[in-house]
Amino acid sequence: MMPSDIRTRSTNPALLPGLFRKQFELCRIKPGDTIAIVSDLGTRTEYIEAAFAATDMLGADIYEMRVNAIPGWTNVGTPTIGQCKGTLEALKACDMILIFHVPLFASWLREVMNAGVRVQMIIDAPDDLYALQAPKGLKEAVMHAHRVYEQARQVRVTSKAGTDLSYSCGEYPVMSQYGFADEPGRFDHWGVGLIHTFPNEGSASGRVIVQPGDVVILPYCRYVQDHIEIEVRDGHIQSIEGGLDAALMREWLADGKTHEDDKDPYALSHLGWGLNPQCRWDSIALYGDGPERSRAASRCFPGNFLFSTGPNTQGGGKRTTRGHYDLPMRECTIELDGKRVVEEGRLIDPKMIVPREVR
Ligand SMILES: [Fe+2]
Repeated sequence: MMPSDIRTRSTNPALLPGLFRKQFELCRIKPGDTIAIVSDLGTRTEYIEAAFAATDMLGADIYEMRVNAIPGWTNVGTPTIGQCKGTLEALKACDMILIFHVPLFASWLREVMNAGVRVQMIIDAPDDLYALQAPKGLKEAVMHAHRVYEQARQVRVTSKAGTDLSYSCGEYPVMSQYGFADEPGRFDHWGVGLIHTFPNEGSASGRVIVQPGDVVILPYCRYVQDHIEIEVRDGHIQSIEGGLDAALMREWLADGKTHEDDKDPYALSHLGWGLNPQCRWDSIALYGDGPERSRAASRCFPGNFLFSTGPNTQGGGKRTTRGHYDLPMRECTIELDGKRVVEEGRLIDPKMIVPREVR
């Protein structure tokens, strides 16, 4: 049993079919639709049972395709689909894929999305599926933020701790997730609420000061314990100084290099902010550091600045590196072309603020 199961009451498994039904309704599943599950050897059986039961309730059809893999949390982009004959064709023919590992940065995902298939990812614990499921108004808030971010050309992120990072954008699309895949070709992740884009190549520069209480959500699930000073120039991290947390980051990114001069792990990747009021910054303190309790919660708490390094193929770029770090930061101020949207870690554009639902 996972420590997180011992620490907290788990959602009654009998509630899961109802929860999946609500999710499918958010995804606009209609009678006659076909859902294909892409599961793996690590997928919870009760999720498959719940998805089957919920699909029956809605008069749709569903089947499970289990891939011969246990994709890890840290090796995103594993090509789980496409090598077995017929799998890609099958997935392109359905209305929605329910996937239980991270397909982002894998090329097959783009192919099925281009075919108009919705992709709903589920990688969080039952308690989180319940607590973080998209509240009323989240989609509208995320799409508003999406449009605002899309118009921005120059972004500046500052903090009292000393962060002062600038980048320009427009070269890569803004990407957003509000927790449910309701439009053709849409990818989404149950429990989230965030937007991001990739900085224009070579444009990011400045310094990022990571503080205790910021979160490393990939590859670790860990509150930062001491300051990290990151120098950024020409779109890449030039140095990482500090104590243990700096050492962890430096070693992980160095480990992602494929050759001595490989700079890809040090490239800044998706940059954006969280908007889901259901997500809690203190989720690791409350529920432990199991990745299943942190994937959505820790990256989407409202107003966090999500700093990251590594691959950018999901946005149309060419980097596929394993050196990938995701670091939601608190108490940052984000300015888009001089206009503040986040002030010291709080959303200040009223249209981006969604009331928290007590569950
Ligand atoms: Fe990332």
